[in-house]
Amino acid sequence: MQRLLPEPGPTTVEEQLDGYRPWEHPHDDRPYVAMNFAATVDGRAAISGVSGPIGSDADTAMLAGLRTRFDAVMIGAGTMRAERYGRLAPSPEGRERRERVGLPHDPLMVIVSGRLDLPWDAPLFSEGGRVLIFTSSEADPPETATALRIVRHEGSVDLAAALAHLRRERGIRALLCEGGPHLHGQLEAADLVDDLFLTTAPKLVGGGAPRIVEGELPRIVPLELSWLLEEGGELFARYSRR
Ligand SMILES: NC(=O)c1ccc[n+]([C@@H]2O[C@H](COP(=O)([O-])OP(=O)(O)OC[C@H]3O[C@@H](n4cnc5c(N)ncnc54)[C@H](OP(=O)(O)O)[C@@H]3O)[C@@H](O)[C@H]2O)c1
Repeated sequence: MQRLLPEPGPTTVEEQLDGYRPWEHPHDDRPYVAMNFAATVDGRAAISGVSGPIGSDADTAMLAGLRTRFDAVMIGAGTMRAERYGRLAPSPEGRERRERVGLPHDPLMVIVSGRLDLPWDAPLFSEGGRVLIFTSSEADPPETATALRIVRHEGSVDLAAALAHLRRERGIRALLCEGGPHLHGQLEAADLVDDLFLTTAPKLVGGGAPRIVEGELPRIVPLELSWLLEEGGELFARYSRR
């Protein structure tokens, strides 16, 4: 992997993320929030309904590396239904590594859902770890082997209030949001995002798959390019909100 910006030279995912310590920069009323997406050159965020075929092994390594830098990971229900997540820190070594840098052994997995129509047979709900669901549904979830907390909002989930809850009630200092596009759009519209990690895969897919932001934004969001890496023609950018 090579760094193109700011200082060109060889690098690795580990080296690049080593100095990235988002947990040291929480806001008073919410965690530091970073988004992560992979997209094709024509801007599509899914191939055949999932994100896996977009990026290479280097993209997977970047995502795994990013997860080691955050207290919690958040996704929308659409992403959970499509991607069927498992435990975020599956290996004991990975959990020990997290604890060594002062992070909780398992990142808190946060899901935002209106209808609570989730794939309850997905590995996330049986493999252990910790899950917190913000929902506007009054339905009760089934019994799960993984510890599950539910926080209910009326009407729809108020994302600013949800982030405030994570900061104040759960001690979350840094949150990695892995999408999807509808959740991302709302977070950007409410000015709740600090960083955007975007992998651009050298592929064109056409069709009508979602882009990384779906829904209206009330204004153009200006971004600053903080770094740009390359491996095998794939680009790994970190943008920060100006
Ligand atoms: N390329 C990538 O990096 C990447 C990353 C993530 C996802 N994806 C792809 O994106 C697609 C899914 O897109 P999506 O936009 O549907 O995903 P999404 O944003 O994860 O999910 C949307 C759903 O989240 C819930 N939700 C979001 N905001 C809410 C709020 N304020 N209050 C209550 N519920 C809320 C709703 O769930 P309910 O339906 O339960 O009401 C809504 O239908 C999949 O194909 C996935 O593979 C790609």
